[in-house]
Amino acid sequence: MNERLVRWNERYRRGEETFVFEPSSPLPAAIAGIAPGLALDLASGAGRHAIYLAERGWQVVAVDGADAGVDLMRAEAERRGVADRITAHVADLMARPRGFTPAPDTYDLVCDFYFLDRTLFDEIRAAVRPGGLFVAAIHLAEPGDPPDRLLASGELHRIVSPWGWHLDLVEDPSREHGHERSTAHLIARRPR
Ligand SMILES: C[S@@+](CC[C@H](N)C(=O)[O-])C[C@H]1O[C@@H](n2cnc3c(N)ncnc32)[C@H](O)[C@@H]1O
Repeated sequence: MNERLVRWNERYRRGEETFVFEPSSPLPAAIAGIAPGLALDLASGAGRHAIYLAERGWQVVAVDGADAGVDLMRAEAERRGVADRITAHVADLMARPRGFTPAPDTYDLVCDFYFLDRTLFDEIRAAVRPGGLFVAAIHLAEPGDPPDRLLASGELHRIVSPWGWHLDLVEDPSREHGHERSTAHLIARRPR
């Protein structure tokens, strides 16, 4: 297991990073008025987005490299009676080959909240079905930050604008509760 995942496991075992199972704001905005379908939650953590979707009738494939996070998600999903709607995988998305590869043209919704692997975007684009959504919130680098795990200002737009999808993208200077950095929020719809 890579060092970052060891640290994530420690945080989950301490009971941190559940965000009281409330979703990040782009997700409720993205799915309002949409019939539930099949979603993929990449780097699902303790499962706040997967559970939010499952409680609204979605079937969810949730993937994270930290088994302690996946255990928290499974326990909370059981408690809420939606465990049968979530298929969880413990997999290192940055391993080569990747521990989990999204199947093309498969998902009505792909979520990426607070996980940046620039090499995943092509696979995300391919995984969304025509008419489906890619929803993301990813931290922005601030002066002095190492750029590897954080977006530069304007970078997410440069990545997704060539896709030709309908984009609702904002760089939000406010910080999600408990977060230290501002965020790029994206709701992108693949044309039918
Ligand atoms: C900031 S947390 C976000 C969790 C969740 N998406 C949320 O918003 O609550 C980042 C997540 O990425 C996961 N992660 C980090 N590196 C990973 C990797 N190489 N493969 C899979 N998951 C990874 C961590 O275990 C952690 O759960």
